[in-house]
Amino acid sequence: MKTHFHWGLRLLHWLMALSILTTLFVGIAMVTSPSARLWLYQIHKPLGILILVLVVVRLIVRLQTGAPALPKDMPAAAAFFAKASHVGFYALMFAMPLIGWATLSAGGYPITLGGGLQLPPLLAKSDSWYAILRPAHQYLAFLFFFMVLGHLTAALYHGLIRRDGVLDAMTGRGRQNSARFRNDQGKK
Ligand code: HEM
Ligand code: HEM
Repeated sequence: MKTHFHWGLRLLHWLMALSILTTLFVGIAMVTSPSARLWLYQIHKPLGILILVLVVVRLIVRLQTGAPALPKDMPAAAAFFAKASHVGFYALMFAMPLIGWATLSAGGYPITLGGGLQLPPLLAKSDSWYAILRPAHQYLAFLFFFMVLGHLTAALYHGLIRRDGVLDAMTGRGRQNSARFRNDQGKK
């Protein structure tokens, strides 16, 4: 039985967690510190687009390799909530960069990524779209942030309190002492 996420998925999970947290904090710093705004912005855009590229690869690997089962003794509601939040994360990992890109397009700004790279606009200049997309990017960023906090809490609860192998499935550590592993062996 599958006990761990595919190594490629684990690598992408941690690489993307780091990139997403950085992009979120750079985004907040960008709008709160006017003096550093321009150079933070030059980090925010390429990092956000990198997340978009990585999530495409990640979704393909995820669909090809699947996920280990959750512990048998986990309440059905918690398992449903965990799966729904993962779908929500994938949706946000696609939506956030696309909405950021679309915001700049609607505002008529060039989407420069540094090193002479420039993306084409996703839609024509439009004040009404700009007025929708910019706050959408902001509110979804807050939702993303709170979901990450909930996810982190759940991961630590599994890893430190329940010790059921859920955290090990993503860190790659052996799960000899996990309740789930014992269940799988039918020894519990
Ligand atoms: C996962 C990827 C991304 C995350 C998590 C993210 C997060 C954020 C956050 C937290 C803010 C500050 C929101 C506020 O308080 O107003 C922000 C603002 C912004 N982001 Fe992103 N962003 C991402 C990708 C992108 C991309 C790819 C672009 C453009 C190519 C972009 C363009 C912008 C713009 C134009 C703003 C508004 C700045 C302003 O209000 O002056 N973002 N983003
Ligand atoms: C921006 C930050 C993060 C995002 C967007 C994120 C997203 C995800 C997603 C989408 C999954 C489902 C696996 C997949 O299908 O790819 C997942 C699983 C997991 N994540 Fe994260 N993650 C983040 C940070 C973290 C952190 C900081 C930890 C732990 C300290 C963590 C621990 C886990 C664990 C243990 C699983 C496996 C859950 C299971 O077996 O159902 N994640 N994460």
